[in-house]
Order: sequence, then C-alpha cells, then structure tokens
Amino acid sequence: MPELAIAVIPADGIGHEVLAAGRAVVDAVAERSGAFRVRWTEFPWGCDYYLKHGRMMAEDGLDELRGFDAIYFGAVGWPSVPDHVSLWGLRLAICQGLDLWANVRPVTFLPGIRGPLRDPALTGTSWVVVRENSEGEYAGMGGRNLSARGQGGEVALETALFTEVGCERIIRYAFELARARPERHVTSVTKSNAQRFGMVLWDEVFDRVARDYPGVSTDRCLVDAMAARMVLQPASLSVVVASNLHADILSDLGSALSGSLGLGCSANLSPQRRAPSMFEPVHGSAPDISGQGIANPIGAIASAAMLLEHLGYGREAGWIHDAIRATVADGVLTADLGGTATSAEFRDELIARLPPGA
Ligand code: NAI
Ligand code: MG
Repeated sequence: MPELAIAVIPADGIGHEVLAAGRAVVDAVAERSGAFRVRWTEFPWGCDYYLKHGRMMAEDGLDELRGFDAIYFGAVGWPSVPDHVSLWGLRLAICQGLDLWANVRPVTFLPGIRGPLRDPALTGTSWVVVRENSEGEYAGMGGRNLSARGQGGEVALETALFTEVGCERIIRYAFELARARPERHVTSVTKSNAQRFGMVLWDEVFDRVARDYPGVSTDRCLVDAMAARMVLQPASLSVVVASNLHADILSDLGSALSGSLGLGCSANLSPQRRAPSMFEPVHGSAPDISGQGIANPIGAIASAAMLLEHLGYGREAGWIHDAIRATVADGVLTADLGGTATSAEFRDELIARLPPGA
C-alpha cells in the first residue's frame, strides 16, 4: 500500500490545534479507504524554536522538506517574535525557497452558516482566488537607510517585483483552473491605473495568455472595486487571479464573507512538482483564542483534503468536503460561527459523517 510521507509544521498558536484535527480526519479517511497509509513527521519550527535557536527553522530545513510528498502547515506568528521575522523565517522561507508559486485559495459558502451577507441563496456559491506566491509586493526587495539623520530622518523602500515569467505562469495556471470549472471565467485583479509598471505588465501578459484560451471568458477589475464586488456581487466570481498582496487581502475577505476566517483553506503549489507542495489554512495563529480548544478546524481540514487531492486521492478528498458540508448543515458549529462545539467535538462529529469505507 502506498505510504504518503507528510511533513507537519504546526508552528504557533492554534496551528497546533487545527492541524491535530486535520491529521485525525486524514487518519480516519486513510483507514476507511484502505488505499494509502500516512507517515506524519512533525517539525518543531516556529516562534518557540526561534527563541531557543535564533532561527525559525533548521538551517538545512528546506533540504529536509524536499524529501516529503507534501507539507501540512498550521500558522506562524506569536507576540514573542516580531511578525516580519517569524513570517519571513518560516512560511515565506518555505514558499519562496521551494518556489511554491501558485497559492490556490477557494472560498465556499457552506450550508447552515449565516455569514455577514445574510443571504441564504449564496449557499453553494464558490470561487477560487489564485494568488501569485513568489514575487510581487512580497518579493522582499528593499531596505532601510539614513537612520543616522536622527529620529524622523530614516527612509525605507519596499519594492514590488513583477517578472514576465512570474506573471505568465500564475495567469496561465488560473486559465487552466477556469477551464475545469463550469463558468469558464477568469477575473484579473490589479491596480494598474495607479501602479503603471508592474501591474501594466501584468495586464499585458493577461491579454496575451487569454488569447490561448478562447473558451474562457475574462474580465478585469481594480482591487478596490473587487473588494466591493465581493460583498455586493459575490455570485459573479469564479476564478480570481491577483498579485501576492492583493490576493492575500481578498482571500481573508472571502473567508470572512463565507462566515469566518477559520473556514479558508489553501494550497501552495509547485505545479511542475519540483518540490513538495504546502497546504495550510488561510488564517493566522490567533493568539486571542489559542490554547482554549475552540478554534474552527474547517480551514485546516479542508486544506488536508486539498493535500490528498494533490497526491491523487480525489475520492477521499471528496469524502472530507462532503463530511464538512454535512457537519455544518447539521448545526455543529464552533464559536466563531455562533455555535458551541469545541475543535475536538467538531472533529469527532465530522469523522462520524465520513462514509464507512471503500
Ligand atoms: P489571525 O488570522 O490569527 O486572527 C484574526 C482573527 O480571526 C482573530 O480574532 C482570531 O481569533 C480569528 N480566527 C482566526 N482563525 C480562526 C479559527 N480557525 N477559528 C476561530 N477564529 C479564528 O490573524 P492576526 O490576528 O492578524 O495574526 C495573528 C498572528 O498570525 C500574527 O503573528 C500574524 O503574523 C500571523 N499570521 C500568520 C499567517 C500564516 O501563518 N499563514 C497568516 C496570517 C497571520
Ligand atoms: Mg493572509
């Protein structure tokens, strides 16, 4: 029987709690399916590790990760370490170090959840944000200088990087994804009216790639207008492709509109499979609720389903998505969704709704 080697990096805060739930669900699915076994290898990287070792992950950490089939990631960040140090030292170090350039973030309106839009007709609506994950505003280019001028005199540059290669590969990925969806539509998001270099290059590449996909319709939307459209016309979206920063923001908005930040799942993909892909909930480490056992594990569990699908177990991934839907439809909800279920209760209720086996 094939054995899936999965690296687990819970990192900080509720990352531990939600990944524990996700692992239990995958173990239950593996047992019922009989098609694969899972070998989990947990790494202790994160803010505690940083306080002991002065770095967020082991020095040869990327090489260690390369040996796995996939990475299952929690969330990084804790008040003991500045956020820009912890994020760059772990999540961005892995995504950029392994060139996981496609960040796929579905938004799904589940039954039984009353989101802020208060529109029951939205149940079943879904769209997917395709985020450029290797460059753009998070390219890490810039610096600070002139602090010797004294307080008030320092300068900082934070430079966005847009390459034709980077734009083309993520836009092409979005079109391929759109081809497999019933709407066959891609919306490109930029701010190319105000940002006239990188984002105009993005627009030009988008138009060029679109010509290769005559069966896929397109439109463009500026990012500020897209924020409004997500609220006012959420059903008009299917595949939304955007830069690193814009898609980061829009996917939190999407998760919140669907009911909670705890719902968003994501895949950081190496589409050419040159490295293991990394799967993680969209949310952060939530220090405000960490340790209470009440975090919503749906984002992490749905991310585990994306992991299984990526490794060729689409049937088992479907079981998980169906069980999530069935569980929330029956009113089993964590506190962020207005319910009373703990993370562990939700996990058990979901496992009880998995099919009995192959
Ligand atoms: P956050 O996503 O951790 O929390 C924002 C709010 O949403 C909080 O009130 C939190 O309780 C709630 N929330 C988030 N996930 C939830 C869940 N599963 N169930 C119930 N409620 C949930 O964002 P915040 O507060 O801005 O950041 C906290 C830390 O996480 C920071 O250190 C930040 O840098 C880090 N972070 C890490 C990310 C990652 O590892 N991918 C992504 C975003 C933030
Ligand atoms: Mg984010």
